[in-house]
Amino acid sequence: MEYERSAAELIRTRRSCRTFDSKTPDGAVLLRLKDYLKQTTENAGIKARFVLLSAAGTDGKLGTYGFISGAVTFIAGIVNRDEKDAARFGYLFEKIVLFATDLGLSTCWLGGTFKREDFKRQLTLSANEHLAIISPVGYPKDKPRALETAMRAMIGANSRKPWRELFFNKDGRTPLEEKSAGEYAVPLEMVRLAPSASNKQPWRVIWEGSRLNFCLCRTKGYGSMGFDMQKNDIGIAMCHFELTARDLGVPGGWAASPPATTPEGWEYIASWQ
Ligand SMILES: Cc1cc2nc3c(=O)[nH]c(=O)nc-3n(C[C@H](O)[C@H](O)[C@H](O)COP(=O)(O)O)c2cc1C
Repeated sequence: MEYERSAAELIRTRRSCRTFDSKTPDGAVLLRLKDYLKQTTENAGIKARFVLLSAAGTDGKLGTYGFISGAVTFIAGIVNRDEKDAARFGYLFEKIVLFATDLGLSTCWLGGTFKREDFKRQLTLSANEHLAIISPVGYPKDKPRALETAMRAMIGANSRKPWRELFFNKDGRTPLEEKSAGEYAVPLEMVRLAPSASNKQPWRVIWEGSRLNFCLCRTKGYGSMGFDMQKNDIGIAMCHFELTARDLGVPGGWAASPPATTPEGWEYIASWQ
């Protein structure tokens, strides 16, 4: 088994942490994380790689505009500029985040609020590589800073959209009720709890007979910052769905077979069937 705890337990445990204790994870824990990053890179299936970075010896110069404090260790997710599969990247990075959670570490996806140039100086990147995402990894301080609490409140980080806005029956309009979702109820609930950039939760799922169609409903005006952050979010949702379904023995796998129609403004991504 990939994790010691169930995916659902890890998903419910994970929460972004922005105030870290300066105690670094011990060598054995970091080694396990490093191995996992190596394995994920080897099996990525896309042009991407994942490495561990240390801020030790940089005099706190790895800037996050004050959004993160105390973190010494970071995971960096690097993608080739010509790689279009941001959903797969999101899927892989979230698997890493859940692995770190299983190791008892806290994390925080960062796609925007960090000084890329600072972090890039700690890495050897080729001209074709883009540092898409980083996450601090470590132990949380007992009490989050006031800035963190205020930020969570501002983006509504503790709440998620209700089922009726995310999951639908065949026609793409009638909400799918949790009590009618059968074996998909728990995996879909884990999609609902997923993290997303600015907590926009752009995923929509339509249950159509023997398959569930995952679609992306983009937030108007959401910039791409050199990387398709909302497609990345769909990958996180797919990761939560798949890992939970596998734990629960729900059969299926991913296929790309677009349905005849999707609701206006939604992009079809993939189906679980
Ligand atoms: C792709 C992605 C990018 C994110 N970028 C940032 C960021 O730049 N700065 C930040 O403070 N949080 C960032 N977050 C964290 C989200 O704000 C957070 O996941 C969301 O508000 C839900 O809160 P939770 O993770 O505690 O459940 C990002 C999350 C994702 C998935």
